Amino acid sequence: MKIHTCALFDLDGVIVDTANYHFLAWKKIASNFGFELSKENNEKLKGVSRTKCLNIILELSNFDLNENSFNYYLKKKNEIYLDYIKNINSENILPGILKTLNYLKEKNIMIGIGSASKNARFIIEKLKIVPFFDVIVDGNQIVNSKPDPEVFLKGSKALGVLPENCVVFEDSDSGIQAAKAAKMTAIAIGTPDKFSNYDFCFTNFLKIVKSDLDNLFTSKNYI
Ligand code: BG6
Ligand code: MG
Repeated sequence: MKIHTCALFDLDGVIVDTANYHFLAWKKIASNFGFELSKENNEKLKGVSRTKCLNIILELSNFDLNENSFNYYLKKKNEIYLDYIKNINSENILPGILKTLNYLKEKNIMIGIGSASKNARFIIEKLKIVPFFDVIVDGNQIVNSKPDPEVFLKGSKALGVLPENCVVFEDSDSGIQAAKAAKMTAIAIGTPDKFSNYDFCFTNFLKIVKSDLDNLFTSKNYI
């Protein structure tokens, strides 16, 4: 029997529509290496750390950088990204998220963030949704990027919840793999073709209706 008492959310592309700004910023950086970053290749960057993203782009571009230039482009990417999101506010919260967070609060389900982003807390503050979260684990607190389960295991540990009692909402394949590696229930947000493995898949949070949440989070209806 599996009872879910905790929900862990990825941030970029799940709670807020920042995923496209990461893409646009990396696209600009990649053009410096004569490489056109496609949406398809961008899927490989979702959920992974800034450093790992640059390494992936360099590999795809067949380009090499010395340490100074590598650090320069990391900094540059973040500057471009922060400029894109400088006016971010609660209107950028993705549809269906607030309804889900309110449902979880009502049911006394623990709620956490498990994000690879070092900008996560800044964004959550801009969105004015900090009070929803019992824990925020972000890119500043982890060593190993998704698909490693570290970010989610850190979240469940901080909340005193066993991994098998956690549900993870993720829009990246690497994040879904991290959730599965943590032995958590993995909910993929997006089209099924983007994921190698998941427990449930919904196109977006508007597709997750009350009966789905009841099935996941009430003790009578466990999966
Ligand atoms: C993840 C994004 O949430 O954060 C990745 O899906 C991004 O695309 C990663 O690379 C790191 O983000 P940041 O904000 O620290 O550069
Ligand atoms: Mg994401």
